[in-house]
Amino acid sequence: MSGLSLSFDTPQLAQQYEVRSAERQFLHGQRLIAELGVRAGEHVLDVGSGTGLLAEHVAGLVGPTGRVLGIDPLPLRIEIAQRKARPNLSFQVGNAYALGELPAGSFDVVYLNAVFHWLPEKTEPLKQIHRLLKPGGRLGITTGAKDQPNRLQSIKKQVLSREPYARYPEAQAGTPHWVTAQELADLLSGAGFTAQRIEAQANVHHQPDGNTAIAFSQASSFGNFLGHLPESLRSQAIEDIKRELEAFRTPEGIRLEGKRLFAIAHKPASH
Ligand SMILES: C[S@@+](CC[C@H](N)C(=O)[O-])C[C@H]1O[C@@H](n2cnc3c(N)ncnc32)[C@H](O)[C@@H]1O
Repeated sequence: MSGLSLSFDTPQLAQQYEVRSAERQFLHGQRLIAELGVRAGEHVLDVGSGTGLLAEHVAGLVGPTGRVLGIDPLPLRIEIAQRKARPNLSFQVGNAYALGELPAGSFDVVYLNAVFHWLPEKTEPLKQIHRLLKPGGRLGITTGAKDQPNRLQSIKKQVLSREPYARYPEAQAGTPHWVTAQELADLLSGAGFTAQRIEAQANVHHQPDGNTAIAFSQASSFGNFLGHLPESLRSQAIEDIKRELEAFRTPEGIRLEGKRLFAIAHKPASH
C-alpha cells in the first residue's frame, strides 16, 4: 500500500505548482521533449500533466496537424491546464492506472515528466503505455533517483523518524517511490521497451529559505510532503526541517541536491 493521497491538493497548491514548476520541472521537461525529438503532426500523451505547462509547449511543436492529450488525476490541476486548451491540445482527469480506455497504437510519443516516482506500482502503467504506442513509438521519463534522493526529502524522513512525529508512521507514506537506474532499465525491458538511454543527472538547486523549499515540495507532492501529519504538528515539523536545512546554506541560498534519472526508450517496430 502506497499511502500517497490524491486528496490533499488545494487550489493554492495547484496555483503554486503552476508558478514554481516553470523554473524546475518545466525546464527539465523541455530537455526531455527535445531528446524525444517530437515532430510536427505527431500524437503525444502526457501522463501526469499537472497544470499543463509542458503539454502546452509540446502542442507548439506538433502544430495544427498533431495532437497532445494531457491527463492527471488531480481535478484542480486539470482545471488550470484546461485554460491552455486549444484545437490540438486537450486535458482530462485521468490516471496512469486507468489507461485502458485509450485506443491501442494511438500515440507516437508518451512521456512522464516528474511523475514516475509518484506511481507506487510501475509495471501496469508501463505495459499500458506500451499498448498505447505505435510500433517504433517513443517513451520519455524523468524521475528522482533512489540512490541519491532529494536532500529535503531525506531531512524530512529523519525528522519524522523522531518523536513526537514517529508515532504517526503514516506520515512517511507521502514519500515518493524512487527507482535506481538498474530498476528503471529492468522495468522498461520487462514491459517490452528498448531503452536507448538511461542517465543519472545531478539535480542541484538553491532555495532562498526553508519556507520556500518546503512550499515547493508541498506543491510538487500535491500536499503529501507533510499532509499525513496531524495539523497540530505540521508547523512544528516545518520548523524542525527548516532548522536542519540551514546546515546547507551557501552564499547562493540553501543548496538542495539529488539525482534525476532521465530515460528514453522505444517500442520496437516489430511489435
Ligand atoms: C511533480 S508533478 C509533475 C507535473 C507535470 N508532469 C510537470 O512536468 O510539471 C507530479 C504529477 O503527477 C501526478 N500523478 C500522481 N499520481 C498519478 C497517477 N497515478 N497517474 C497520473 N499522474 C499522477 C500528480 O497529480 C502531479 O500532477
